[in-house]
Amino acid sequence: MSKIASLDALEILDSRGNPTIQVSVSLDSGATGAAKVPSGASTGRNEAAELRDGDLKRYGGKGVRKAVGNVIKIIRPAVIGMDASEQKLLDEKLIALDGTTNKARLGANAILGVSVAAAKAAAAERKAPLYRYLAQSDSYVLPVPMFNVLNGGRHADNNVDFQEFMIAPIGAPTFAEALQSASETFHALKDILHRKGYETSVGDEGGFAPRLRSNEEPMELLETAIHKAGYRAGSGIAINLDPAASEFYEGGSYVFKKSGKSKRSSEDMIQLWADWLERYPEIRSLEDGLAEDDWEGWRRLTQQLGAKAQLVGDDIFVTNPQIFAKGIREGIANSILIKLNQIGTVTETLHCIKLARSNGYTTVISHRSGETDDTTIADFAVATGIEQIKAGSVCRGERIAKYNRLLEIEHELGRDAHYAGSDVYSRWKHLPKD
Ligand code: PGA
Ligand code: ZN
Repeated sequence: MSKIASLDALEILDSRGNPTIQVSVSLDSGATGAAKVPSGASTGRNEAAELRDGDLKRYGGKGVRKAVGNVIKIIRPAVIGMDASEQKLLDEKLIALDGTTNKARLGANAILGVSVAAAKAAAAERKAPLYRYLAQSDSYVLPVPMFNVLNGGRHADNNVDFQEFMIAPIGAPTFAEALQSASETFHALKDILHRKGYETSVGDEGGFAPRLRSNEEPMELLETAIHKAGYRAGSGIAINLDPAASEFYEGGSYVFKKSGKSKRSSEDMIQLWADWLERYPEIRSLEDGLAEDDWEGWRRLTQQLGAKAQLVGDDIFVTNPQIFAKGIREGIANSILIKLNQIGTVTETLHCIKLARSNGYTTVISHRSGETDDTTIADFAVATGIEQIKAGSVCRGERIAKYNRLLEIEHELGRDAHYAGSDVYSRWKHLPKD
């Protein structure tokens, strides 16, 4: 029995220099676990509530002392003596203590910190790494990483409306070689940008955000970089997109403000994505191609393009089992983005993953744009068989921490590690361009 003996919490800083919460759990046995909670910028409207102090005298209102206080004063007395390995009971207790539908009272940041730290303490007590402790089978899959190397939208001051252009090295035989090919492509891209006189400083997630001229220029640059690094666009390195369309959806239309002023309907957007999939066959995955409030558009998008590409729901599902179940019933998307802090407990996150599996949806686990050196998502991916991971570009410590953790896990597993590779996209029949 892994009885919780004590709980502590602390206000720390994330990668943007904003406050976030760290929670630690100690068990009777002396085993401990700690979790640092990330924070998003382009958040979905229905995400669980992140509790911030709102006290403008500290951190511009972004302090998390209230969330820290909730862990110490409200959650600690209620969970001391509970079994940390009974994750479901613990998470149900946290949800009941909060009492709201979106965790607004105690804060999803406070609750997730406790939920994850308890899992880590229970793993430590068994002297098992987190990925083994949470493992749902004894076959271990290393996820395909999606590296966000070129940015537009809210993440960049340029003429690109779409937020993320990612490279996914599907052709590599191992995770280590996947990481290597991505790093080489990242450096080739830097070189190309430099020669063209573009800026090569990086944004929050480590991607470049130069002053590009159009929505398509990033595609051309990535194709060139992949070839320059000696790989094949498509079968070797796929290009995946997250335009984050909720960010430019206004009054029922998609408004392109950055690439020249123009408005598009849902139907126009579906046509645009259909064209892109034809013209750029190396695209395997499209996340948030339409907005979170455009359910009817999403249904038609899935009908028309669901057989051609992975369509990932991020803002529209917000890792919420109820919303996701409704989306499945309505034929929305064929893949889900998993962010633990969108929902706030390990148990509800596992529920979403299970729903995805039983309904033929693929899964992508994701960091947030505000991160820490916490590597939980790497272990979580391997434990649950999530086949893809988004943890930013191939630089910045808080991004690389996750990829390095996956290298460590692959090394530790040796022959038992299987890299997900191109199998992930085998159901979407694309002809590679090369
Ligand atoms: P975030 O967004 O800023 O909310 O973390 C990243 C994403 O849209 O996937
Ligand atoms: Zn997204």
